[in-house]
Amino acid sequence: MESGSLEIQTKINFMQALNSLTEICEAVCDISRRVGAFILLEQKKLTEYDVESKGLNDFVTYVDKAAEERLVAELNTLIPDAGFITEEATIAREAKEFIWIIDPIDGTTNFIHGLPLFSISIALMHKEKIILGVVYEISRDECFHAIEGGNAYLNNEVIHVTSRNLLKESLLVTGFPYKDVDRLEQWMKLFVDLLKKSHGVRRLGSAAIDLAYVACGRFEAFYEFGLSPWDVAAGAFIVQQAGGKVSDYSGGSNFIFGKELLAGNGQMNEELREVIREHFPEK
Ligand code: IPD
Ligand code: CA
Ligand code: CA
Repeated sequence: MESGSLEIQTKINFMQALNSLTEICEAVCDISRRVGAFILLEQKKLTEYDVESKGLNDFVTYVDKAAEERLVAELNTLIPDAGFITEEATIAREAKEFIWIIDPIDGTTNFIHGLPLFSISIALMHKEKIILGVVYEISRDECFHAIEGGNAYLNNEVIHVTSRNLLKESLLVTGFPYKDVDRLEQWMKLFVDLLKKSHGVRRLGSAAIDLAYVACGRFEAFYEFGLSPWDVAAGAFIVQQAGGKVSDYSGGSNFIFGKELLAGNGQMNEELREVIREHFPEK
């Protein structure tokens, strides 16, 4: 094939792949809406006897497990032979070319206490690279989504991170440590410092929502220690497609499996990273 027609063929292949990824993303949003409706209905029926403990301040209910099983069953029909990494481990992990990374309810503590802030988080990884992310905030019917090579969206609207470039004019969001309490004092000093240096620091209770809100400009930045891949894979990708930046605390790219993450509008990531490193110099 001549180089001109090869180039055209490559473009066509790319457009076709993008189209099918767009369709897959639409299907993932629909699946999330269906499973979200189930989760919302079950929240009303939940009693304290439905809450199981997986460890210190780490809870699960039959709704998390049933929602995960429903998501896995429906996603299985979209890409045959994909693998899964899921929080509730209702399906065994397998190394495959395509892997779905799923948190059926991100914000389980809010969910069991009757608070409205929780989400479904679904990412699709292709050979170690995230190519699709969906965070569905159930109570507000807000579906944040993005695919490789495209924009980020909230429902049908394109979203962007904000352009505020000063920490002192920013609203931040974080998650408080609740399992690994060894570094709590150090962490609190960082928190107090950031409270003084910004408009404030919120704690919503769903890392996936925190990230989605950075992507659409409700917050300038998010940071947290000890997160798992299912908490962050989808939201971090959506932030990137919305024009933001995501890193670990050394500025590297080990934030999905590395248990530390800083995401922001890009303008102030460095300033925030410096403050974090003042309090955690080993980072
Ligand atoms: C939790 C939420 C929370 C974050 C925790 C996560 P879960 O996920 O994302 O905001 O602070 O670290 O474990 O347990 O509700 O799925
Ligand atoms: Ca989670
Ligand atoms: Ca969860």
